[in-house]
Amino acid sequence: MPTGLVTASYIGAAVLFILALGGLSHQETARRGNLYGMLGMALALLATLIGVVSDNFAILFGALVVGGALGLMLAKRVQMTQMPELVAILHSLVGLAAVLVGFANFTDPAVQLAGAEKTIHDVETYLGILIGAVTFSGSVIAFGKLSGRIGGKPLVLPGRHWLNLALLLLAIWFGAWFLDAAEGGAGLAPLLLMTAVALLFGIHMVMAIGGADMPVVISMLNSYSGWAASATGFMLGNDLLIVTGALVGSSGAILSYIMCRAMNRRFLSVIAGGFGTSGASAAGAAGEQGEVQPLDPADAAVMLKDAKNVVIVPGYGMAVAQAQHAVYELTKELQNAGVSVRFAIHPVAGRMPGHMNVLLAEANVPYDIVLEMDEINDDFPEVDVSIVIGANDIVNPSAQEVPDSPIAGMPVLEVWKGRATFVLKRSMATGYAGVENPLFFRENTFMLFGDAREMLQALIKAL
Ligand code: TAP
Repeated sequence: MPTGLVTASYIGAAVLFILALGGLSHQETARRGNLYGMLGMALALLATLIGVVSDNFAILFGALVVGGALGLMLAKRVQMTQMPELVAILHSLVGLAAVLVGFANFTDPAVQLAGAEKTIHDVETYLGILIGAVTFSGSVIAFGKLSGRIGGKPLVLPGRHWLNLALLLLAIWFGAWFLDAAEGGAGLAPLLLMTAVALLFGIHMVMAIGGADMPVVISMLNSYSGWAASATGFMLGNDLLIVTGALVGSSGAILSYIMCRAMNRRFLSVIAGGFGTSGASAAGAAGEQGEVQPLDPADAAVMLKDAKNVVIVPGYGMAVAQAQHAVYELTKELQNAGVSVRFAIHPVAGRMPGHMNVLLAEANVPYDIVLEMDEINDDFPEVDVSIVIGANDIVNPSAQEVPDSPIAGMPVLEVWKGRATFVLKRSMATGYAGVENPLFFRENTFMLFGDAREMLQALIKAL
């Protein structure tokens, strides 16, 4: 395949990736966006296979078959609730690939460069391995935290900022050593030492971040994985990898910014870690809050029949219970009875960006009744009944009322301002941030204890 054709295919693939990102920004066009992404990746793979690779086809196809089969199996098996951990572990693979390709390229005797070109290439190799190693270890810890294998509490080591600074200075120092040594054809020792430092940094950085700030970490690691791929692209001289990495890197950075804004956090303070420290304030004054008011579905149905304006607030528990279809059933039932029903979506509801939108779209809930937090938060004083389905942190008033709460300052859906709130959850357990929720003790809050799907089915029946 002539080089020109490979370049043209790469440009075509890059355009398809940009169209994919554009498509994914709206629910209506998300499927089309995914299709563009798949076409772009197929084109990129084909062009590379036919036009770039010239040797070792057996190893390549063997790896493609094994990797493809594993990916297919995982994607088929994974539950919607495990999606965020899958994304985290996939980021770790991008980081690992950047590290391995970096070492392979560095030790490859066929790569013969000299002068400024060699120095630039060495810097690319160093950066690719550095970002790749941070992404790899950070993503593995994020996977552990999201899947519950590692606790959500932040690890707050004494002098942790000094430790981070020391690791950064070490990485810079090893970098200077590496560039010096690489001139004379050596440099493996500083490269290995820097990789160890970068792995430690990734672990420490994510361990120090509290549960409630995990959304920012996921999007940040997403961004890092893109920059690692981009650095690898520079090292290999592959334009498509540079462009694709930059697209992932910058879209991840924009997502991190959006997540920070949604949680009212500054990016640097999230990275510095330490938020979400559970302690006296996290446990809150649960005992002093009074009694909760359990409600059975029959009584709840009576209140719903009297309502004119209902808002449904879905959270992570809706995903766990797979209650999205039952939610839409209830919505239709209420709409048929002349009740206005809207959905309020918090930007960090669930465990990944857009988690609730995906589930509601799967159940065919029309997009025009699904509103973002900013669009609906001022309406709660006029709401007759808010139905909170498996949500907790995103409706926690202590974010506004308890200054030293781990979620202090995070914007929340102000359901308590409405006439009545129904909370569907199984127990009084806390949410992801481990913070008690005073909402459950408010006099206009009623608890419908049980699995969200079963409770919704009982409500529909009672209606
Ligand atoms: P959470 O605060 O985690 O609360 C979910 C609630 O659902 C739990 O309190 C749980 O209570 C209930 N639940 C679980 N299974 C249920 C079931 N089968 N039926 C009924 N209820 C069930 O969720 P949220 O309000 O959506 O807030 C999201 C949290 O996750 C935030 O802290 C956010 O920062 C964090 N987070 C978000 C993301 C992104 S990007 N969205 C990523 C990582 C972390 P019971 O056990 O009592 O039932």
